[in-house]
Amino acid sequence: MAKVHIIDENRTIDVPDGSLLLELDGKTNLLFACREGVCTTCLVDVVEGMENLEEPGEMESMTLSTLPPGTAKNPRLMCVSKIKSGTIKIKFVQ
Ligand code: FES
Repeated sequence: MAKVHIIDENRTIDVPDGSLLLELDGKTNLLFACREGVCTTCLVDVVEGMENLEEPGEMESMTLSTLPPGTAKNPRLMCVSKIKSGTIKIKFVQ
């Protein structure tokens, strides 16, 4: 099992290795709308463990490239991000 530590909620959620982080839907206060990497509702800043996420796909990369500079240090969209294994620590951006 991989772990997602949510700094804003001070808790850790277990998710299966290799799973999409859409897994967090309904388990945190992070909101998911489009679930396709377009709307940025599920945008987070990955504070630790960026290496434990798979590289962003085409849609996520395109959406992240439209963010204003300085929005987040390591921005990722949880609905389309896949965790390999290990732990990531995230902070809500919105
Ligand atoms: S829910 Fe829209 S980008 Fe993730």
